[in-house]
Amino acid sequence: MPLRLTVIGTGYLGATHAACMAELGFEVLGVDVDKEKIDSLSRGELPFHEPHLQELLQKHIATGRLRFSTSIDEAGEFGDVHFIAVGTPQRAGEHAADMTYVDSSVAAIARAATKDCLIVGKSTVPVGSARRLQQLVQEESSLGVNVGLAWNPEFLREGFAVEDTLRPDRLVIGSESSAAEKILREVYADALRRETPFIATDFETAELVKVAANAFLAMKISFINAFSEVTETVGGDIRTLADAIGHDKRIGRRFLNAGVGFGGGCLPKDIRALQARVSELGLDSTMRFLNEADEINLRRRDRVVRLVQEHFGELEGKSIAVLGTAFKPNSDDVRDSPALDIAARLFSSGADVNVYDPKANANAAKRFPRLNYCDTLIDAVSGSDVVLLLTEWEEFRDLTPFALSGHVRHRMIVDGRNVLNPNDWTEAGWIFRALGRRTKRPTASFCREADRHVLGQEEVTPDDCGHPTGAVVATVGV
Ligand code: UDX
Repeated sequence: MPLRLTVIGTGYLGATHAACMAELGFEVLGVDVDKEKIDSLSRGELPFHEPHLQELLQKHIATGRLRFSTSIDEAGEFGDVHFIAVGTPQRAGEHAADMTYVDSSVAAIARAATKDCLIVGKSTVPVGSARRLQQLVQEESSLGVNVGLAWNPEFLREGFAVEDTLRPDRLVIGSESSAAEKILREVYADALRRETPFIATDFETAELVKVAANAFLAMKISFINAFSEVTETVGGDIRTLADAIGHDKRIGRRFLNAGVGFGGGCLPKDIRALQARVSELGLDSTMRFLNEADEINLRRRDRVVRLVQEHFGELEGKSIAVLGTAFKPNSDDVRDSPALDIAARLFSSGADVNVYDPKANANAAKRFPRLNYCDTLIDAVSGSDVVLLLTEWEEFRDLTPFALSGHVRHRMIVDGRNVLNPNDWTEAGWIFRALGRRTKRPTASFCREADRHVLGQEEVTPDDCGHPTGAVVATVGV
């Protein structure tokens, strides 16, 4: 008889895991304390945006393999394996992770279990948690019911969650018993048939693998962003630099895209929680570099705000178009989003901020209701003094100056993700700024043309355009 699985916590990670386990052929029960979420999932409606997940959800509600409930007792009777997929957010006013939801859900399912089973933690937790929770499981489970514990960190990326869950690049299992490993080999049999690396280890290593991976990625992004600060000062092109070092296979090109930096529900809080944890362990200086990575990251946001302030001086009455509020493309997640942070700060400085994101407007509006949310890109840029590209949705990567020129009041764009071709924009008479990249001023010939026909005298000062056509006059990126 195939294993019956429950997934406790049906947020981003849990809903994805539940639907993907059903796709692999298991009977799955998703459990959450949030009734609204459970009702929505039961109707086949995903409460967030994630490519391909809605289809999978509906498919397996129809096959009957996937159900949702608010009852932990039902889960305790049903499941052979219980995945814990609740959040570990940053504690208010602190760097450490809030373990309330993990602790309470592990205790609750251990109490509710009416048959032998395995609890499998997927949430990202401070090292040492699994060993502590193992004790809790023993205390809470009923006499005669054997409840095991394993830790199986999740590495899925938003936007690729289904793909990453069905075809993970590695599986990591921390446990203290060969029985737990055997059960998880059965759960992940499909991936194991494809020879996916399976790393069976102890609790501590499994917990640390997750935070080490995220810390490394965060550092990689901040590393290239630190070089952006250098190229902005001495001249140079950060994209070319990243391409060149990325050819070295030991370094690799991925996660070297300079720009407004990292955000989201994982990288920022995970590096902070890791620092807090090692500090608790008396290793204060060990992870100090993560503090630097965090600060470099946040300075990129300041840089964009300052750039706009320095260019315009007073922002009162200025119209700013912000393209993107999600922390990255193909997601409607705005948690710790650099784009939304920059938009809100410019609004606080007095600007009129018109925002457009293909998917994240509604979530952004819940956090910052006073920004002006637009239904289309053109609505957002119409009459703007500057366009800020802050999340690299495909719709924005493909932008051309010709699509926007007739709509804006002042031709200026800031490419906060380094995805546009500067020459295309400067040649079309735009002031183009990017983080860490050499930019040309608008070409003189075009400016004279634009001066007559489009921009209006006051928009094209000799300082902006009074130089020979095509000459590179500014090597400072921003
Ligand atoms: C991350 C990890 O990648 C994933 O393995 C883990 O399970 C959860 O955390 P995610 O938060 O979905 O996943 O986003 P990711 O794709 O890692 O991007 C994080 C942030 O870094 C985004 O804001 C993105 O825009 C930014 N980023 C990424 C850069 O600024 N430059 C890059 O080169 C890559």
